[in-house]
Amino acid sequence: MKAEILALLRERGDYVSGQELCEHFGVSRTAVWKAINQLKKEGYAIEAVQNRGYLLTAEDEVFGQHELESRMETEWAGHPVTFYETVNSTNLQAKLDAENGAGEGALIVADKQTAGRGRRGRSWNSPAGTNVYFTLILKPDYAPDKASMVTLIMALAVVEGIRATCGVQTGIKWPNDIVADGKKICGMLTEMSVEQNYIHYVVIGVGINVGLQEFAPEIAATATSLQEVCGQPVPRAELVANVMKAYEKYYARFCKTLDLKELREEYNGLLVNCGRQVRVLDPKGEYTGLSRGINESGELLVELSDGSVTEVFAGEVSVRGIYGYV
Ligand code: BTN
Repeated sequence: MKAEILALLRERGDYVSGQELCEHFGVSRTAVWKAINQLKKEGYAIEAVQNRGYLLTAEDEVFGQHELESRMETEWAGHPVTFYETVNSTNLQAKLDAENGAGEGALIVADKQTAGRGRRGRSWNSPAGTNVYFTLILKPDYAPDKASMVTLIMALAVVEGIRATCGVQTGIKWPNDIVADGKKICGMLTEMSVEQNYIHYVVIGVGINVGLQEFAPEIAATATSLQEVCGQPVPRAELVANVMKAYEKYYARFCKTLDLKELREEYNGLLVNCGRQVRVLDPKGEYTGLSRGINESGELLVELSDGSVTEVFAGEVSVRGIYGYV
């Protein structure tokens, strides 16, 4: 009920009487009063005036369970959402939950991670009170070879979620990074559990630098945060909810054909490395070529100097001018 009270107060933007809240939720005045008091304890500024009711005044960002629930505008993505003040890694928690029966759309969100994980065994700096770390669980019934596309769909959703929340236009560095002003603002780590040709679950972990001001020396030149780019604090719960909303929209389009036919053009329009020289770090040997965008399966098309085109599936692509790579 607390999340619903919050949503109602926010939507009204004016006093809502205790009587109305009681009738709306079919509970006693005491129950409403208790819920309001708990919300106040969580940090919400709610004014109570006799004969007028309750008013949610200037909202300082409260990042927590009820804020997330009250912001979620989706059918399935982000339901249920579970918030942790501190967790080892939202990906690890999501995998545990998925093993224990959590369903498609369940979302794990944390304010802080003690063992945030990046790609290629790296760690992901995850301090409290400033960024967002979340992981979405999928339990699809398509074949495992389709699963790599869910990360690309998340990239589209993050770009749209950021734009909807704070108006910043970001780009995608295939396949896993979101960039702003030529610097990394978000990373994604997708993991899955597969048996033969069957997916048990996929978890898509997303870390967005929202308010982070200081970066470790080794990434200081190549990383940034939303606040740095747009110059003001960005509401984190709203951001997560907007990403979920966008994910639901894009995922529905993907599910129609189980490929990126409908999304490819939009994705390529956001690709920061499209039409540029890229270096493909293939375990079999590094090579360079011109990025020609993705195909319908999400592979990056790279045109080599002899004019032939290779389809890059899982390599790490470096982009000239981005991340300081030549
Ligand atoms: C990368 O760019 O290396 C990927 C970073 C992914 C970080 C996110 S934060 C939420 C989720 N939980 C993790 O432990 N990692 C991902």
